[in-house]
Amino acid sequence: MTAVALSIDTEAELDLAREHIRALERALGRKQREVDLIQEELSRSNDFLREVHRVLPDALLILDGLGSVFSANEEALRLLGATRDEVLGRPLGDFQTEVEITQDERHALLVERRVLRRERIWRSLDGVHIPVLVSMATAGTGDELSRMTICIAADLRDRQRMEMEIRQRQKLEAVGQLAAGVAHEINTPIQYVGDSIHFLREAFEDLGRVARAFRASLGPLQAGELTPEAFVAELDGLWRDADLDFVFEHAPPAIARAIDGVSRVAEIVGAMREFSHPGHRTHAVVNLNRTIVNTLTVARNEYKYVADVETDLGDLPDIVCHGGEIGQVLLNLIINAGHAMADVFQQSQQRGRLTVRTRREGDAITVEVSDTGGGIAPAIRERIYEPFFTTKPVGRGTGQGLAIARAIIERHGGTIDFDSEVGVGTTFRLRLPTSTEASRGHTGTGREDHPT
Ligand SMILES: Nc1ncnc2c1ncn2[C@@H]1O[C@H](COP(=O)(O)OP(=O)(O)OP(=O)(O)O)[C@@H](O)[C@H]1O
Ligand SMILES: [Mg+2]
Repeated sequence: MTAVALSIDTEAELDLAREHIRALERALGRKQREVDLIQEELSRSNDFLREVHRVLPDALLILDGLGSVFSANEEALRLLGATRDEVLGRPLGDFQTEVEITQDERHALLVERRVLRRERIWRSLDGVHIPVLVSMATAGTGDELSRMTICIAADLRDRQRMEMEIRQRQKLEAVGQLAAGVAHEINTPIQYVGDSIHFLREAFEDLGRVARAFRASLGPLQAGELTPEAFVAELDGLWRDADLDFVFEHAPPAIARAIDGVSRVAEIVGAMREFSHPGHRTHAVVNLNRTIVNTLTVARNEYKYVADVETDLGDLPDIVCHGGEIGQVLLNLIINAGHAMADVFQQSQQRGRLTVRTRREGDAITVEVSDTGGGIAPAIRERIYEPFFTTKPVGRGTGQGLAIARAIIERHGGTIDFDSEVGVGTTFRLRLPTSTEASRGHTGTGREDHPT
């Protein structure tokens, strides 16, 4: 038997080789563990991505370099009413009513690498059109064909519905506020008409009593059962009992007040109608002093308990304006002044002074309404013309008076401003041109029909 005698060298080389193999095996094992770890990592990030797709509230489509759908999340499938198989591999254009992506957009996405946001109409497989806001961006660094385009689309139907509901609610609130404001302005003349009519009813009853007694005495007088002296004495007594002197003194102004109040309500209702038909404006030749006196009369209830009135009315030319609207402006300024002075009165029992002053200044007429109320705090001076800005409790103010006032005065080519000092009072100043655009275009000559 011939033993293969291995040289010492060969033995040593074999040992070395075995050693190498073991080292390689160890290295392989380490690599395997690394690969396992990477695979674990990969599957974790896959799970994570899938989870992101799943929880994303918006639709997600990923397009490949050719613009075909490469991946879609559940929400995208729901929106498009399609299965994954029906979507994958199809161009985005199959699901949109317009272009897929324009050349300019391609450039912005691929070259400038911007995120684009576009409103589009998607079309589901069953033909439903869905307004969506799509955000698009590209991912990847290779050439155009290897870039992915990520599209995230938010369904705008809910948002549009919500916006419509909010707008509707705001409109309803505005109408409600407007109605409350009108009710508030109509309330004063109505009370005023009511008071006058109550007085006239009592006066009429008194008059009736005297007239009936007079008639009842005529027979006995003719029959000689009543002496003329007794007849005169009886009538005189009845006259005094019914206080007919008082009745005859106060009835005509009461009638005038009632007519005034009714005209005012008609004017306010007319102004309301104009709110809905802004094209209809009736301009007339108006003397502002007269409008002021009327407005002070109608609004008397708003200040008479807390302030005395002083008027300083200059010589004014008649101007062409919308008398009802200007009256509405003055009414609000006077009521605001009354409220400010009522607040002071409540705290100090101090009666205030309401001063209305008019002047002609060149081509303009100025009207100043001053009060001795608490003034307007500097912090809110910027805001008082805002629609619905009010510091008053519900039922006392809606915050529209000055917003409407400014709109009216500006429509007449005039201005409105104020000076105010806290603790001293406030003066609102109106400037109206004596010849407005409206007056130049005015052809009628009729004087505005003021109630007396
Ligand atoms: N003369 C004034 N003195 C003090 N504050 C005033 C005066 N005039 C207006 N203001 C302030 O400006 C706010 C807005 O006035 P505005 O006339 O627009 O609304 P309002 O009087 O509150 O409500 P509305 O006129 O609709 O009944 C008032 O709530 C008040 O705080
Ligand atoms: Mg007001």
